[in-house]
Amino acid sequence: MIDPFGRRISYLRVSVTDRCDLRCVYCMAEDMSFLPKAEILSLEELDRLCGAFIGLGVEKIRLTGGEPLVRKNVISLVRSLGARLGSGLQELTVTTNGTQLAKMAGDLHAAGIRRLNVSMDTLDPARFTAITRWGKLEQTLDGIFAAKAAGLAIKINAVALKGVNEHEYDQMLAWCGEHGFDLCLIETMPLGEISGDRTDQYLPLSLVRARLRERWTLEETDYSTGGPARYYRVRETGGRIGFITPLTHNFCESCNRVRLTCTGTLYMCLGQEDAADLRRPLRDPSLDEAGLQQAILEAISRKPKGHDFVIDRRHNRPALARHMSVTGG
Ligand code: 5AD
Ligand code: SF4
Repeated sequence: MIDPFGRRISYLRVSVTDRCDLRCVYCMAEDMSFLPKAEILSLEELDRLCGAFIGLGVEKIRLTGGEPLVRKNVISLVRSLGARLGSGLQELTVTTNGTQLAKMAGDLHAAGIRRLNVSMDTLDPARFTAITRWGKLEQTLDGIFAAKAAGLAIKINAVALKGVNEHEYDQMLAWCGEHGFDLCLIETMPLGEISGDRTDQYLPLSLVRARLRERWTLEETDYSTGGPARYYRVRETGGRIGFITPLTHNFCESCNRVRLTCTGTLYMCLGQEDAADLRRPLRDPSLDEAGLQQAILEAISRKPKGHDFVIDRRHNRPALARHMSVTGG
């Protein structure tokens, strides 16, 4: 699959549910309305759709949410996708908030998952509860250590929030180094109406990187997990730190991904409204896999050049009405 700008699309992110057991302040409003169950694709339908993408050249699939691990029986989808590893599909990963990992880590590993991204913005229990509105840090930490014990490689994702967690990155970097986890900092993106003001929270990572360099030796690397993060080796810990900078550095020219939601809507760009409905062709009995693939290719032919996120006082309204929990980042 090659898009109009010559980019090869080899990475599919699949949001298996828009629901989540947390309500991170930068991600969701407190009183979110979630999709009615009838709109949501079954796990079998999601598997079939993923199969069509793999047939077209997708090599990496990441399951996201909402929180993917709160979807009932999601492990059956992980297993069926895991069984596709090796024939086209090279990697299957999950982005999770970690709350369900204590019970699911072993099953995820057995199904073929080898790497996990765990979202955790702070190591301070009270701050964790404030950011997630009701989460318990301990539950996420228990999940992280269960995943480590199960043999999964872990990357901690933290959204950089000015005045909230900005003085913790030294400590988080040290903690990740100690436990063998990578750390990835993310600039907050203007998706969806949330309570509060994003301009107050936006923290450019160029500034954070400069601050970290006062204490740590960050060595350039060309390490990449196929995503937009720019990674550095931290000499003092031997670990890695990545920066995802949609605002300060636009990386759209190397975009290799599209995003599927749990209703079968395909977003060709996280930062644009345009989307394609794949549920209709998926459920059309007159269409076989080739027909479905035709609908996918038509969507790829509409992939836009890039996003145009801005966060400043004049653009305080969210650029997009859609919440991050629809596509899972
Ligand atoms: N900006 C940046 N990252 C976000 N996430 C959720 N909402 C936003 C936002 N507005 C992150 C979560 C998680 C990943 C799925 O997306 O923290 O790491
Ligand atoms: Fe849930 Fe992740 Fe959104 Fe937090 S960022 S509310 S954990 S989907």
